[in-house]
Amino acid sequence: MHLHLKHKSNSHLKITEHLRKITTIKSLKMNTQELINTAKALVANDKGILAMDESDPTIKKRFEQYEIPQTEEARRSYRELIITTPNLGDFISGVILFDETIRQKKKDGTSFVKVITDAGIIPGIKVDAGAKDMAGHPGEKITEGLDGLRDRLTEYDQLGARFAKWRAVFTIDAQIPSRVCIEANAHALARYASLCQEVGLVPIVEPEILMDGSHSLQKCFEVTEQVLRAVFQQLYIQGVVLEGMLLKPNMVLPGTTSTKQETANEVADATVKCLMRAVPAAVPGIVFLSGGQSSELASARLNAMNKRFKGRLPWGLSFSYGRAIQQPALEIWKGMETKVSEAQQALTHRSKCNRMARRGEYNAAMEKI
Ligand code: 13P
Repeated sequence: MHLHLKHKSNSHLKITEHLRKITTIKSLKMNTQELINTAKALVANDKGILAMDESDPTIKKRFEQYEIPQTEEARRSYRELIITTPNLGDFISGVILFDETIRQKKKDGTSFVKVITDAGIIPGIKVDAGAKDMAGHPGEKITEGLDGLRDRLTEYDQLGARFAKWRAVFTIDAQIPSRVCIEANAHALARYASLCQEVGLVPIVEPEILMDGSHSLQKCFEVTEQVLRAVFQQLYIQGVVLEGMLLKPNMVLPGTTSTKQETANEVADATVKCLMRAVPAAVPGIVFLSGGQSSELASARLNAMNKRFKGRLPWGLSFSYGRAIQQPALEIWKGMETKVSEAQQALTHRSKCNRMARRGEYNAAMEKI
């Protein structure tokens, strides 16, 4: 009798364990399919992403230019202006929020997340804790924020975020970026991406080579290729599902103070050549950062890529611009309630230009309207 019971409870345990495994596999599969759907949706219909995830120190810098008060209310009003722009969802697939912003509400009490999703836009969240000086490596940065990340991601998921962003940053100078800076940042990017996918958030993986400096386009090409190869190696080692992520890289550009400044077509050719070498075809989309380029150049260069390589690339080439979409609107608004509508028109214009650039149908004449 005793033996019989023991036998029964053993087999019961086995069945329970088996069912648990099946459920886990099923939910992992569902999770993966959801990740893939979200990643695809973020680059569908020639739309792109609007980055409005400036951390407090960064938005402080942007506001300082126009003497806008440094208050939570000013930041809230500015972000409300952006997300209530009429028909924004016609051009923008997703917006990246900051921790403060994802918790904020419109003046009438509606949560920002609801406003965004009602506009047909997917809410995302910046989750890194910023690029900090790297020990023993002067001039280089390592991005922090892995501690406690699983819990923060779970909370953001509950708040309505469907994707996340983590930015690593590299400076080009005589001896840098060093191998160790590249490897450490690539490792952290992959750890972040893996945690995101576990929770069900699409990771946007952002390794940014800064434009600052007098380096050539060729130098930027070499460093970008080296960094992207290291990043994809780590993503592979750590088991990140490439179909369920997006890459957010810099374009291949000459340094801002380089004596030679290549044309949009030359930038397009170099950038696509570099990406073809280093980015697996399984990645559904590449969403460029603007990195301090003028709004017009960011549109013209993206346009050149899509025009010249239409139908010949494995991934979509899109945008995830911050400054290149927001700057003209911020310059008009300057904290004034009376300028909200005019600022929103400027935001719409830039969003429209970039959607045209996705189609390879943007031209400079559009800027004169
Ligand atoms: P910029 O387009 O202003 O470079 O911002 C994009 C971004 O999200 C940087 O992390």
